[in-house]
Amino acid sequence: MRLRLYRHRKMLRALLLFAFVLTCVVFVGHVEPVLANTDGVTSIFHPLSQPAQEIKELSLLVLAICGAIFVVVAGLLVYAIIRFRHRAGDEASEPPQVYGSNQIELAWTILPLLIVFVLILVTSRTIADVQNRKAPPSAVHATVIGHQWWWEIRYPELGIVTANELHVPTSDGGGSRPTFIKLQSADVAHSFWVPLLAGKTDLIPNRENLMWIAPTRPGIYPGNCAEYCGTQHARMLIRVVVQPPDEFQRWVRDQQQSAAIETSAAEGRKTFFANSCVNCHTISGTPAQGKFGPDLTHLMSRTTLAAGAAPNTPDSLRQWIRDPQSIKVGCLMPNMQLTDAEVDQVVAYLQTLK
Ligand code: CUA
Repeated sequence: MRLRLYRHRKMLRALLLFAFVLTCVVFVGHVEPVLANTDGVTSIFHPLSQPAQEIKELSLLVLAICGAIFVVVAGLLVYAIIRFRHRAGDEASEPPQVYGSNQIELAWTILPLLIVFVLILVTSRTIADVQNRKAPPSAVHATVIGHQWWWEIRYPELGIVTANELHVPTSDGGGSRPTFIKLQSADVAHSFWVPLLAGKTDLIPNRENLMWIAPTRPGIYPGNCAEYCGTQHARMLIRVVVQPPDEFQRWVRDQQQSAAIETSAAEGRKTFFANSCVNCHTISGTPAQGKFGPDLTHLMSRTTLAAGAAPNTPDSLRQWIRDPQSIKVGCLMPNMQLTDAEVDQVVAYLQTLK
């Protein structure tokens, strides 16, 4: 008898723990919006763009339905455990035995069927709505290509190539100027995820996936690769820079320029072009046309280096060139064994690429 009581208590405790965890999850969902206002914190509970908003609404509905099912089932269970618990004198008697009940069996077959049917309908409506969206003529088109471990970003119609920071214009409330993004991979599977803007979409070798975003509020939206892709998967960060239309146009005009040629950095230019930097990097309007690493034409217009692993400051640029592995172990940029003087010259030259 003691053993049974002990088992009941264990079960009750497990149930209470589960209810507590569920409450925490729901609670976090409600306080998270406060956290999301802090810069740099991403939250799926505080979406600032379609389709993330639509996905959040759906997930709350699903959570509510599942929560209601949990409360009913757990409530009945707790009721049965307490109401029919073992009592002194039970040893001699047997509880009433019920064999089959058409009503009960029909109820617990049809009700779940209906619930699942509702879940299927609302989910497929949202999926269709997100995936069948057609690009309006005003849309911006970008291609994002995942590499180990950085993001190549191309705007084929605008003739722009950049890396790790995707610039997009704001959309009006009606989503009048969304950005449609083609996702490709140069090596292994990656996943593009900017939680405040949209759900995850994978970048798969030999395949092209599509997604779109329509943010309305200017700002910098951090995201990251969400599919394990090797050693530096955790430092494969992406930033989406949402700008008002005129600011975005200015950025486009700047990016369309060829690389600046400044006589002040002639030494560094020479060192850069004398080394194999040019085999991997492109600087438009120069012999450097490598495609393996990020395009450096407007390197200084970006706020980070190495896909968000370091801020784009002269100091970290120096460290990055001297020994890339010290910032990002396993990254595919080799140590070029430059002397300190050469590193300083190359940094000075890269600083001119505005
Ligand atoms: Cu790319 Cu994980």
